[in-house]
This record gives sequence, structure tokens and C-alpha cells, in this order.
Amino acid sequence: MLARSPDGFLESDFADEGLPDVPDVPGMISFPTQAYYAWLTRSFAAGQGAVVEVGTFLGRSTVHLAAGMAAAGRKDPLYCYDGFRWQPHYASTLDLGLADGESFQPHFEANVRPVHPHLVVTACDLLDLHWQRGPIELLVLDAPKQLPEISATLATFSPVLRPGSLVVMEDFLYFPAYTLAWVIGRLGDRVSLQHVVRESHTVGVRIEAPLEAERAQGVDFQPLRATPAEAEAGWDALLDPLPDDARTRLGPGRILHLYDLGEEDLARARLRERAIGDAEQLEWERLAGTHLQHRYPGLFAELGLRRALDPRRADDRARIWRQLRRTIRAPYLAARRGARRALDALGASR
Ligand SMILES: C[S@@+](CC[C@H](N)C(=O)[O-])C[C@H]1O[C@@H](n2cnc3c(N)ncnc32)[C@H](O)[C@@H]1O
Repeated sequence: MLARSPDGFLESDFADEGLPDVPDVPGMISFPTQAYYAWLTRSFAAGQGAVVEVGTFLGRSTVHLAAGMAAAGRKDPLYCYDGFRWQPHYASTLDLGLADGESFQPHFEANVRPVHPHLVVTACDLLDLHWQRGPIELLVLDAPKQLPEISATLATFSPVLRPGSLVVMEDFLYFPAYTLAWVIGRLGDRVSLQHVVRESHTVGVRIEAPLEAERAQGVDFQPLRATPAEAEAGWDALLDPLPDDARTRLGPGRILHLYDLGEEDLARARLRERAIGDAEQLEWERLAGTHLQHRYPGLFAELGLRRALDPRRADDRARIWRQLRRTIRAPYLAARRGARRALDALGASR
């Protein structure tokens, strides 16, 4: 059971916090998550342990963590882990002229060091992670998505995660990556839900009791070892405490899990029962163009989806644009609220 934190639970798009003035680094996290990360290190973390990020890519997330640390006057290191190996599919969105497998660490460092020079960067595979630098207050994860990597990450860091530490996970609410939420759900009352970032897939959980590293490797962490009844009960427990929007985003994880357990009929029945909103429909349509169509053919058949969105078609373009507008809205709101605050302050000082 992943209950809401007794110390206060926050669901926000963090638009009120605004975005720090940092270089525009290519990356994969949304505006609300960027604002959340800057807020975390500026206002939330109390400096009672290290700030560690696993899965930096070129540093879009890192510059926001770094900007928050700089704003808080922190001079302690920001610890960063990534394999830093260029992959062919990155080139479809960004061309740095790197060969497959070549290190992009120099690009990462060039992006982040101007914001916070106190970086300690480790290039390694998640299965080789190590940590010997004492307690961690804030652990931000955006690389471990599959069971072996999630287990290795938890096993590495859980000895230094104390009650009160925060573990932030990108993609927690992204249903195709449901293993992450499932494993965290298995930690039971050792963790509690503290932050849910709106219009995003990011969640922060508070450590309530020491985690035992070997629990991270336990058989019950393996989604495919669950019986269908255990899966259903696990998903009820995981989804119940979530706010509505987050529950909707993660909800189809149950359906993929049941399908992966060989329960296609049950998964299709659960899919038929769902009230699928516009955003979720769009996501299924997008996924229809990925390898998931081959992994879950029965689900895509149930949805009548045989093709991916095509930006050359007018109706698809309109739907893609609607999705983009949602993403663009957050910084616009942040700027507007910032301006209003400045005007209010001006008015108050007269
Ligand atoms: C989704 S990206 C991170 C995005 C980043 N947080 C941002 O703001 O743009 C995932 C990162 O995890 C790293 N990664 C994935 N699997 C890894 C592994 N097994 N070992 C080390 N790094 C890994 C990739 O190199 C990539 O940079």
C-alpha cells in the first residue's frame, strides 16, 4: 500500500514556482517537472544529505536541480550518474554528431557546470552503481525503468535513504513503464506518496522506514510472479491513494500487467470498462506506432488501433497540437503569475 504522506501531500504543476533562468538544454522532462526539480533543491531539501541524480541525459533535469541548489546557496556537490552512451534513436530528435555508443558526458558537463560547478559525475551502467558518500536526502531517478535496474538502484541507495529522504521518479505515472510503480508499491508502508507533479509522470515518495536492500531483490517485486488476484489487489492499493489525474495516467498499467501475466481476456475486459479520456486515447494511438503494438496486440485490437498518429494528416496534426498546447501552458502560467506577483509587490511598496 502506498499511502499519502502523513506529513503533507502535494499535487501541483509548480507553475507558481516559475522556471529558473537556465540554459535551454535538450531533454525529456516536462515544464512542470522542471519547475518541480528547481523547487525541490531551492525550497524543499534542507541540506541534510546529498542530492543525487541517476539518469541525466544531457542535463535538462540536472540544470534545474543545479539552479535550485545555486539559489539556495548550496556549494555541496550534485552527484550525477549516467551511462552517457549515445544511442541511435537520440539522433531522431537531436544531432550532436556523435557515433552510436560514443560518450555524451562532455556535452552534459558543458550544459550543467555553468549553473553549478560542484558536480561529481560518474559514468557507469546502472548495474554497476556504487555509493559510499553517506546519507542521501534527495534521490532523483530517470534511468531505472526495468526490474534489474530498479533492483540494482534500490539495493545501492537504500542503505543511505533515511526516514525523511525523498525519492523522485520520472515515469512513475507512465503506464508502459508500470514496473517502476509496481515495485515501489511493494515497499508498502516504508514509503509514502509526497509529491505528484500534474501534467507529468513525476512522483516523489518519502522514505518512512529504512528500506532493506534485499527486499528490493525480492520475489514479490517481480510483477510477473504475481497471480492475477495479487496483481488486481496490488493495483487497487497503488492507485487508490493517487489523486484523480495521476490515477488516470497510471491506471492502464494494471491492464498491461494483466496482459503480461497471460490474462488477455481479463486485460481486455478491464480495457473495455475504462472511460478513456482524450489524453489517454492519444497516448494509446501514439503507442500503436511503437514496439508495444507487438507486445500487446490484443489491447490495440480491442481499441481498434492499427496505425500510429501521422503528423501529415490534418486531424492527427490537430490532436498533436492539442497535446503540445497542454505542455506549453505551464511556463506561460508561471510567467503570468510571476508578473502578477511582481506587480503586487510593487503595489504594496508604494
Ligand atoms: C530518459 S533519459 C533521462 C532524461 C533526463 N533526465 C532529462 O531531463 O532529459 C534516461 C537516461 O538514462 C540513461 N540510462 C538508461 N539506462 C541506463 C543504464 N542501464 N545505465 C546507465 N545509464 C542508463 C541514459 O543514458 C539516459 O541518459
